[in-house]
Amino acid sequence: MKKIRLSAPATIANVGPGYDIFAMALENPRDEFEISLNDSGKITIEIENNTENIPLDVNKNTAGLAILEFQKKFNLSDGVHVKIFKKIHSGGGMGTTGASASACVFGLNKLLKMSLTSNEMINIAQMGEIASGGSPHADNVAAAMLGGFTLVRNYNPIEIIKLDLPVFPIVFAAIRKSERTTRGKISYQIGEEKLKEQIAYCSRVIHAIHTQDIAEFGAAISVDHIAEPVRAVPIPNYFEAKRKILEAGAFGCNVSGGGSSVFAVCSEDKQTAIAQIMFENFSKSPHFVEILKTKTTNFGVQEISDSAR
Ligand code: HSE
Repeated sequence: MKKIRLSAPATIANVGPGYDIFAMALENPRDEFEISLNDSGKITIEIENNTENIPLDVNKNTAGLAILEFQKKFNLSDGVHVKIFKKIHSGGGMGTTGASASACVFGLNKLLKMSLTSNEMINIAQMGEIASGGSPHADNVAAAMLGGFTLVRNYNPIEIIKLDLPVFPIVFAAIRKSERTTRGKISYQIGEEKLKEQIAYCSRVIHAIHTQDIAEFGAAISVDHIAEPVRAVPIPNYFEAKRKILEAGAFGCNVSGGGSSVFAVCSEDKQTAIAQIMFENFSKSPHFVEILKTKTTNFGVQEISDSAR
């Protein structure tokens, strides 16, 4: 086999309090990929309809960096061509970089008939995140690879726990960041009170998944003292909009991953009203893209068979 077609989901990293540790996968949108081996010895990247000007330079592209890491680790000389069919907006904290890195590593593992474990693949794929956030982190990559809710159990070496999620509705306001990354602005000096609360809320998230309690899950993902204070700043009216979203019956709301998108967890009958509140509050931002109504999913990277296209 010289060519493989795959899809990988958008993901919400951090999921409230779990900075760089938690992530969950979304049913839609999914990026699609065609990965092929050749004899050129080079890595080439092509993006169909590249309206978001994603760099194709291998050293600046998430897929490129993940493939380079794969080649380096296993001393491989094959040429690799990746064609990306983008459906996930870039620069909005929707995990499109994690989707690319995961799909490429998964694809190479299959094409080269290697038998890497998912932890080994995630360890390689996280190097792709250097292209977007400046440093490797495994949260988006893990959820894109495995689907469901993922928890980084250990960073060194990488060990991921996947928890199956009940499928529940998500409303997502896609808003781009105005700068490439805000990771450098995050403070880790949050003080004793907030630190204890952060640990408590992380524990509540996991307990809510184990007990399949979506209302409790929503309450637990609404508090974050690490990323949210930084990522909320460029989102006009964020805390006022969040209050309205929760008053309208959402179980929870927070900033998605590296920002500036906002997501809410809710019941199906509240999706339209919450989408409307998000539109009214965020659509005036110059970085606003669109409102999406989607769901969680337990499917990560998937092979696309010819009959499914
Ligand atoms: N955990 C990462 C962050 C996700 O918050 O920066 C975005 O890459």
